Formats: sequence, structure tokens, C-alpha cells
Amino acid sequence: MYYPDELVEEVRLKNDIIDVISGYVRLQKKGSSHFGLCPFHNEKSPSFSVSGGKQMYYCFGCGAGGNVFTFVMEYENYTFPEAIKMLADRAKVDLPEIEYSEEVKKKESKRNKLLEVNKEAAKYFYYQLRSQRGNLGYRYLAERQLTDETMKKFGLGFASVSSGDLVQYLRSKGYADGLIQEAGLASFDEKYGLHDKFWNRVMFPIQDINHRVVGFGGRVMGDAKPKYLNSPETMIFDKSRNLYGLNFARTSRQNNVILCEGYMDVIAMHQAGFTQAVASLGTAFTAGQANLLRRYTQEVFLAYDGDAAGTGAALRAISILKEVELSGKVINLEPYKDPDDFIKNLGTDAFTERMEEAENSFFFELRIMEKDYNLKDPESKTKFHREIARKLCGFREEVERENYIEAVADKYGIGFDNLRKLVVAYAAQTGLVSPVVRPKSGIAEKKNTPEENIKKAQRLLITWITEEPKVFPQIIKYITPQDFTEELYQKVADKLFEEMKEGKLNPAYIVSMFTDEEDQREVASLFNTKLEELETKQEREKALHDILYTVKKNSYEYYSARLGADVNSLSQVIAGKKALEELNKTHISLD
Ligand code: GTP
Ligand code: MN
Repeated sequence: MYYPDELVEEVRLKNDIIDVISGYVRLQKKGSSHFGLCPFHNEKSPSFSVSGGKQMYYCFGCGAGGNVFTFVMEYENYTFPEAIKMLADRAKVDLPEIEYSEEVKKKESKRNKLLEVNKEAAKYFYYQLRSQRGNLGYRYLAERQLTDETMKKFGLGFASVSSGDLVQYLRSKGYADGLIQEAGLASFDEKYGLHDKFWNRVMFPIQDINHRVVGFGGRVMGDAKPKYLNSPETMIFDKSRNLYGLNFARTSRQNNVILCEGYMDVIAMHQAGFTQAVASLGTAFTAGQANLLRRYTQEVFLAYDGDAAGTGAALRAISILKEVELSGKVINLEPYKDPDDFIKNLGTDAFTERMEEAENSFFFELRIMEKDYNLKDPESKTKFHREIARKLCGFREEVERENYIEAVADKYGIGFDNLRKLVVAYAAQTGLVSPVVRPKSGIAEKKNTPEENIKKAQRLLITWITEEPKVFPQIIKYITPQDFTEELYQKVADKLFEEMKEGKLNPAYIVSMFTDEEDQREVASLFNTKLEELETKQEREKALHDILYTVKKNSYEYYSARLGADVNSLSQVIAGKKALEELNKTHISLD
């Protein structure tokens, strides 16, 4: 924790959530909550709610939620300490200087220095492009149909022909040679001393999500090689955790992201109005980047080159997206080479059409795979079908797998039952279906797995308590915080139960016990699960009874399974059994 709890709480209490969010979103009061259009996803009717009572917000559409800190973190892309600082300023609360260790201080100041020198270099390149000497670069970009506005938006620049300019400029600004070199802006050799890395190139500054320049890509203006030079990775530039254009795409309010291969593609796409376009940074798309994207979208459109290299890269990107449960679709750009080319020739509307027609990534994979087989030859055809079956085993959710079996059978003219048998045989042979990975997701869960149903019951219970505190005495007859078997839920229940027993109810405070934005979001969802609207008291009593029973039964089974391994389990199991028996013969009363 960076600041003492009391101070964090003071800052929170002095920033009423309705006031703060009203500065960003138009809110309208409806019942006990305020509603508006969600700033975190694209929507036409408001599902974003802010509760003055709970001092929390929650979007029923995309699952974004939290307290006032979470909002500022998510909207401004601040870290927790940055959000506290901003809100403390707003409410005129004094924050103490944080005491960092020497080591942390050193690292921070190095990071800042690297950011500074990159920014200075970007300014220099930017200025050059607009000067007489940069005319060559400017003409090149203009010929590629970039407008002044676009060049400005992306901070494009120019590195001149002579290879000592930038070094000289940075030295004159007081930067040490070592730092310039460490930032990857220059290299040293015996013969030339310290000399610029980039010269005679148009320059693309690479920005992190907070618009800070962390590196550069530089392109030659003709056909020379290498076409692009990129900054090396540094302390502030991790190529596997940044995406070109994400600083703009993250606020584009589209519910998809378009993943391209090149910088020029991203720029052309943004200029054409597709502000959700991003690209990886001169390297292959990585799992880190996929995780980053998952914070902003559920659906990724791939706009890769149609050549062999592009197709291979698209296939790899698809499997990486799948690992983090993002659905991918492939845009057909034919007859053009890349998005930049396509837009130039056919324009925005045609691209939108291609997005609508984009191919499901699984079918794309099959279509590429098919090329390796000769479907006229029964043996080769059989191998192809086996390969399809193997791939179908990758869908671990049964409904999804069945749906795909059906669609594939249909598309490739294979008998449904035959294909299904093949899948089952393959699954049996290999121990079935790849293991379940459950990354933390910012996306509202809709799946109906048993696991999810139990989590949902636990969430419902917590929401019920906060919306109707008077049921709490009923609930604690049967439920303890240990019954929340999800680790995060248990922490929340611990605190909530403790507070409720003292007659306090303060969900927004509980949110700020967590400093990670994803955790905060998930905690918020606990307090905002949609309760079914039930008419009669009897229905409500039955619903509560069912929730209590589900939570308790799961807890009983959970601890039973751990009996050998964990000494505390026994008491949980005994208490669980008793509570279940009682629940079985008791009617919950909401009087
Ligand atoms: P244009 O050819 O100017 O339209 O650029 P592009 O962005 O379309 O480039 P291309 O599709 O050829 O390459 C895609 C991306 O791969 C580029 O944006 C670079 O990030 C990277 N790349 C391309 N060529 C090179 C190279 O020679 N060296 C390095 N390191 N990266 C390259
Ligand atoms: Mn291109």
C-alpha cells in the first residue's frame, strides 16, 4: 500500500462519485441510481449505473465497475497511486511525500530520464519534418496520402541525412551520452564515436497507452533495406506489452479492435475513421499483447497481409487470441495487399463491408489447412477430416463444440454423426479437450458452467446483503465468509461480514482494499449482480433460500474434497452438513 488506509478513505469520502463521474459522463437520475451511456464500451441505451448510496458504478453491459478510484484509473488509465493523487488534488487533501527506497528512486529516475530523452527526440524529429530539411520526408508521407492532421496526431517526424544531428541536439539539451545510448537513439563505435541510430528516415514515435513516447520506428523513403528500423527494447519499451495505436484505440469506443501488421496500416485506418486499429511493434503478436487487448474488447478483427507470411502470422495470432478467450475474425483484403492499400483504393465503406463479412477464425484455419490435402484422394481426405476432429477437440465447452461440429459437417459435407464420432474417438484417445484456463476477465461472464453458476450464487448473495441489509441476520445463521470458496470473494465477504456485524455497510471502502484495477472491477461486480425482479414475497424468500443452499452445498463439497489435506476442513464440513439439513427443513422468512 502506498498511503495509509485512513488517508485513502478520506480522499474517497471527499470525492462524491456522482460529482466525479458527472464530469465525464452525462448522468440521469432514475430511482436510487444515476444512469448514463457507458464510457467503456459503445452503446446506444444506458446500462451504466452510478449509485450514490453505494458510492460505486457498474455497467450491466460490459461489466466495468468499481468505486471512484477505479473509475479514474480506468478512464484516465492511471495507476492506483496516480488516481489517489488526482482525487486528493481535486478535494484539496494533502498527501504526504512517499518515501521510496534508494533502489526504487534510482529506477524511477532512470525511467523518467529515458521518457524525457525520448520525448525530446520525438520533438526534434517532429520539428525536422516540418522544416526545410525535412521536405523530403514530408513529401513522402503526403504522397502516401497522409493528411497534415494525421501526421500531427501520430507525431510523425523525420531524421535527416546527417547522422550526428540528434546526438548533438540532445547533448546541447544536457543529456549524457550514456543515456542517449541506453534509450537506443544512438550507438557507439570506435571510428565514428556516438552516432544517431536513425537517419534519412521518416519517424514513427511509439507511444504507450498514456501517450508517452517509449521508442521509434523509422522507415526509409524508398526501397532500401532494412525498410524499418525499430528502437531496441529498453527499461521503458517492452515490445511484447505495447501496441502501436493503442493509446488512441483504447478510447475509440468501438466494441472491437482491428489488429494490423504495420504502422502505416494503423495510421491509414485511423485516418479513414477506424480508430480502433492497432499493430504489434515490428515483432510477432504476443500473449502479453493479447492480454492487453482483452481489457478493451472481446472481439478482434485481423487485418493481416494476404501473402504467405501474413497468413502464417494470422494463424499464430489466432491461436494466441484463443488462449485468452478472445474471439478472432479474419478480414479478407483481396485483391489488395494490406489495409493501407485497401483503404486507399476502395475506401471506408468497402472496409466496413469486409468487416461484416469477416471469416470466423476457425473456418479460416480450416481453409488454410485444407490446402495441404488432396480432397480427391480418399486417404488424404480422411487425414484432413481427422485433423479437423483434432482441432474440434480444442473447444472445451460442449455446446460450443457441438455447434462447431454441426457447422463444419455442414460446410465440408461430412456426416454430422460421423464427424462427431471421430471427435469423440480422438478425445478419448488423447484424454479429451485441452485443460481449462480461466484468465481473469474484465468481461461480463455469460457462461452457464456449473463453476460459473456457483460463483454467481456467491455474487448474488453479496449483492443481496448490500442492497437489503436487513436479511443479514437470516444469512449468518447459515453462511460464513469461508463459504465463499472463490479467493477474492472470500476476502470481500470477510470484510463485509465484519462491517455488517458492527452495523456498518460500506462497499466502496471494500473496493479500495484492492489496488489492482482488475480486482476492483471484479469486487464491484460482487456488489452489483443483477437480482431477479421477483413480484411476491414468497418468490423472494424461495430465491434467497435457493441461493443460500447453493452456496452452502458448494462449500460443503469444496471442503469435503479437502478433508485429508487441510485441518480446517473438518469443522467446515461438519458445520456445512448441519446447515444444509437445517436449510432443508427451514423456510426463509423475509418479514
Ligand atoms: P509500408 O511498406 O510502408 O506500407 O509499411 P507497412 O507498415 O505496411 O510494413 P510491412 O507490412 O512491410 O511490415 C509490417 C511491419 O513489420 C512494419 O510496420 C514494421 O513494424 C515491421 N517491419 C517491416 N519491415 C521491417 C524491417 O525491415 N525490419 C524490422 N525490424 N521490422 C520491419
Ligand atoms: Mn504497407
